Amino acid sequence: EKGGYDYFMLKEIAEQPKAVADTLLGRIDLAGNLCLDEVHIPASVLREVSKVVIVACGTAYHAGMIAKYAIEHWTRIPCETELASEFRYRDPILDQRTLVIAISQSGETMDTLMALRHAREQGAKVLAICNTNGSTIPRESDAVLYTHAGPEVAVASTKAFLTQLVACYLVALYLGQVRGTKWGDEILSVIRELSEIATQVDQVLETMEPVRELARTLADKNTVLFLGRHVGYPVALEGALKLKELAYMHAEGFAAGELKHGPIALIEHDVPVVVVVPSPRGRSVLHDKIVSNIQEIRARGARTIVIAERGDETVAPYADHLIEIPATPTLLQPLVATVPLQVFACELATARGNEVDQPRNLAKSVTVE
Ligand code: F6R
Repeated sequence: EKGGYDYFMLKEIAEQPKAVADTLLGRIDLAGNLCLDEVHIPASVLREVSKVVIVACGTAYHAGMIAKYAIEHWTRIPCETELASEFRYRDPILDQRTLVIAISQSGETMDTLMALRHAREQGAKVLAICNTNGSTIPRESDAVLYTHAGPEVAVASTKAFLTQLVACYLVALYLGQVRGTKWGDEILSVIRELSEIATQVDQVLETMEPVRELARTLADKNTVLFLGRHVGYPVALEGALKLKELAYMHAEGFAAGELKHGPIALIEHDVPVVVVVPSPRGRSVLHDKIVSNIQEIRARGARTIVIAERGDETVAPYADHLIEIPATPTLLQPLVATVPLQVFACELATARGNEVDQPRNLAKSVTVE
């Protein structure tokens, strides 16, 4: 049932191109427009939405953090992403014009369920993004967009994360399309790029051997740090979470702009720092800033592991290890940038002799608060 792989996690990482293609299936028409009629929230209601609030836990929360960038950019609707476990305890402001998006692979996460119940009690509409047909979270929501990733068995989430991202992009683009923002052309071109994304994820998977080799050389390290900016920041958090849960190593993700406000004090000789570099074409200011961050930490002795777009020559001189990913529009980069981090964590866990599919102390679905 592991399809020839040693672990479900490896199988699920390999299934990602198909999983993202399945999330898109039937949701883009021949003219390149989105058709999400299945969502059953009338366009008239979506046009009136004044705020989007995303609630989720763990890896799904990281997908939600990325969705915030996409939703605000393409729709100009204010969006906040909140840990489901914190949400209802701070008396959040919700009304009939609030769209709450609850993201959950299992559809059974108690914190997320309690958050959506609270939101509905306040009159908000709830859209679930979920991987498990007929589970509690979609049943209790006003609408659901299934991710269609297929069953995820490994405790550490991989293909569910990528498909949650795709579903979030679909919702963001759809909201933009329905509301007719000035980004119309960009929306159409991103929809086109999204339909190519499975191929790009596949390309990343084909180039992972050096990442595995690198991971094996780091098995005796105590700490790995992850840096990113913009949508690369949640990717850094996700890379750190994967490493904690699988390799049982201390790992932390930071927004690279925060380095000088504290974390740079952690940089010492040979500490591995993974840096997710934004595309040099998109938000190039951020690209240049992160390149100077890489120079700074390298000057202080860090071992720099740089994930950058193929052909980005400006970072190569400062990368002790360079992991190249295909070019994508800025907002879609997490779909390709996360994959090496999954492979990295999985290989480190194996090198440290850990149980990859069943990390200690963790359960696949957390049905208690
Ligand atoms: C991390 C992981 C967890 C889950 C979280 C939410 O690899 O698997 O952080 O993402 O427990 O689970 P769902 O998506 O089922 O609500």
